[in-house]
Amino acid sequence: MSSYTVRFLPDNLETTVQEGENLLQAAARAGIPLKASCGGRGTCGRCRMILKEGEVTQLQKGKLTPEQLAAGYVLACQSIPAGPVVVEVPAESRLAEHRVLLAEERAGEELLPAGFDPLFKKVALELPPPDLEDSRDDAGRLLDTLEKTTGMDDALFNLETLSNLPAVLREGQWRVTASLADGKGYTEIVRVEPGRRAEKYYGLAVDIGTTTVVVELVDLAGGRTVGVKGRYNKQAVYGDDVISRIIYAVETPGGRREMQRAAVDTINELITALTAETGVESKDIHAVVCAGNTTMTHLFLGIDPAYIRMEPYTPAVNSLPPVRAAELGLMVSPGALVHCLPSIASYVGGDIMAGARLIEIDQAEELTLFIDVGTNGEMVLGNKDWLLACACSAGPAFEGGGIRHGMRAMAGAIEHVQIDPRTGEVHYQTVDGAKPLGICGSGLIDLMAVLRDAGIIDRTGQFLSRPELPRLREGDEGPEYVLAWAHESGNEQDITISEADVKNLIRAKGAVFAGIRTMLRMVDLPVEAIERVIVAGGFGRYINIRDAIAIGLFPDLPVERYSYIGNSSLKGARLALLSRRVRDGVEELARKVTYLELSVGNTFMDEFVSALFLPHTDLNLFPSLI
Ligand code: FES
Repeated sequence: MSSYTVRFLPDNLETTVQEGENLLQAAARAGIPLKASCGGRGTCGRCRMILKEGEVTQLQKGKLTPEQLAAGYVLACQSIPAGPVVVEVPAESRLAEHRVLLAEERAGEELLPAGFDPLFKKVALELPPPDLEDSRDDAGRLLDTLEKTTGMDDALFNLETLSNLPAVLREGQWRVTASLADGKGYTEIVRVEPGRRAEKYYGLAVDIGTTTVVVELVDLAGGRTVGVKGRYNKQAVYGDDVISRIIYAVETPGGRREMQRAAVDTINELITALTAETGVESKDIHAVVCAGNTTMTHLFLGIDPAYIRMEPYTPAVNSLPPVRAAELGLMVSPGALVHCLPSIASYVGGDIMAGARLIEIDQAEELTLFIDVGTNGEMVLGNKDWLLACACSAGPAFEGGGIRHGMRAMAGAIEHVQIDPRTGEVHYQTVDGAKPLGICGSGLIDLMAVLRDAGIIDRTGQFLSRPELPRLREGDEGPEYVLAWAHESGNEQDITISEADVKNLIRAKGAVFAGIRTMLRMVDLPVEAIERVIVAGGFGRYINIRDAIAIGLFPDLPVERYSYIGNSSLKGARLALLSRRVRDGVEELARKVTYLELSVGNTFMDEFVSALFLPHTDLNLFPSLI
């Protein structure tokens, strides 16, 4: 089998491909993260590269325009080198780091659970030495002392610890330090060492997001956060959404293993960065709590996700046993137990349960809506008496997917927009003040609201005829509005929003609102009954609530009822790491929630169709806008 070199510019990185491998695979191997929203199926057109030297076999040309083809653009996922090649990777094809809300996560540092009881700890014990009147076995003696000292009566030895116990007890003259790991329903005595050991010990809270992975390193002796780091999920090269990832894992030989490796590699890179920055040694990390959606959890553990996407949408497992770090290849103490927080259904996972437990929705007096808007709108509604949850497929529009110039919230993304209704002139703000490259979710919400206010689109999202506005024009996919001209943008292209984009966004916001209404209808309550709305997730941070109400994404409630909680998945995982009670509480909460499958019955569909207007067909639901 032949192999060829591929050189990537401007990085000047080189790698080798085997015959039949494509440029997307080559880029992944060279460590160049590319946008690959469709997971390499040739349909999204995001993995563009420019062929500078050599030849490739192009399986498809997808969405490439005649101008791009003339300029040498190829789709990486559809291009197989036919010899050595040199390609240039343009900035817009790169998966740049996007906001991972580290500042907010650090604010969680002081957040200590009421019952501080970390999932791993070291306890100093002083045992009564044996004599002829007290000749209990060594193990029983230690267990009795442990119970007397800590109240812990569920401890079990592992064989390795037990095998050296007699010598260790005597070497320490009956003063020892026991390392205890919570194993869900029992406590494992992981190690017994002679004397009092003062070494530090650490744990990790991990948010495994479809887009971003964030790892927080926590000192388990005091509950202090030592460092937080985040980066995009390396699985992104297999597609933006969970469905593409499941398809790859299930249909590609070795795909599940590859996907698991990508998740573990992502976490390991973050661990390496954290240990390098803090001086903590990875061998001193003894417990890990992960929160992720159901698919991410399956893929991280290497569990078959095939049936998550098929009716009747059954995951392999909701409540998971802890597994050893070594089994997963995580670069922490090999015996460390890794806990994944429980899911309740295929599309409501441990990340949502972590957030719901964090806000203590199951103890709330007020009717609370907890909502995380990403590719899916996942939400929990209820209080201490009852809890409902559902997930509606909002599509990736709010994460920039399926929108021609959509992008995630990274440098150059337009995040806020204003339009002068008279002249149609635009004022925008971009992430990091960089030249605009596209528009992210919060910008899209602003934009829909202001396009409507300025009389540029109607309530169905259709563009109105306003020949006096120079920014309103006919594009190749119908009417479009120019947000930034090529000369002011960072990629020398006009940045536009088309009627098709607006319709996509209306479908996305309609799905979220319909999910909320369907849950309310189940319990026969009006929208106004919601006493507080807690918005979670990276996207939620930048949403202008008034605009989100104006377009009918969120219910028309006083803005004071809304609050933003940040990355509740990570914060919830952190609390679970620091408190066995919280960890058990997440399991209990997951058992209490009633999951509402929206594809059953007509209610959701009826609500969805009614919500395909700005803000809604029934304006009585939005009295503040009338
Ligand atoms: Fe190549 Fe989508 S077109 S990844």
